[in-house]
Amino acid sequence: MTLRTIVLATACVVAFSAAAQADETAPANLVNQCAACHGPGGKSPGPIPAIAGKTEAELAQKLTVFKAGKATDATPTATVMTRLVQGYSDAEVAAIAKYVAANWK
Ligand code: HEC
Repeated sequence: MTLRTIVLATACVVAFSAAAQADETAPANLVNQCAACHGPGGKSPGPIPAIAGKTEAELAQKLTVFKAGKATDATPTATVMTRLVQGYSDAEVAAIAKYVAANWK
């Protein structure tokens, strides 16, 4: 393997990882799936609670409670969110709360 090949291969790996990370962890992309259940812009038309109009602190608090596997007062029978939020890191939960509060009013 020549030095040139090694440099090119490394550059490709770095470029690919950076692109994949940017896509998956951008808050706008993280919240795409929230809209599937909570409605476009978090304005749920059905029985699933709306999440539009909540403050960053309230969203972060509820998501953190769900992540710990517990229900919230407003949703005492929670079974969906308690599992779903496990998939996000604490940093992602914070980014989601911030994004939803700022953009879904
Ligand atoms: C598969 C459907 C589904 C998805 C996807 C989903 N949710 Fe939920 N969410 C629910 C349901 C159902 C509840 C009611 C509690 C329960 O059963 O877990 C809920 C409750 C909540 C609550 C509490 C609302 C309240 O009034 O107390 C918040 C906040 C919330 N979700 C935020 C989010 C965010 C942010 C995302 C995206 C990261 C998300 N949800 C993705 C179904 C979903």
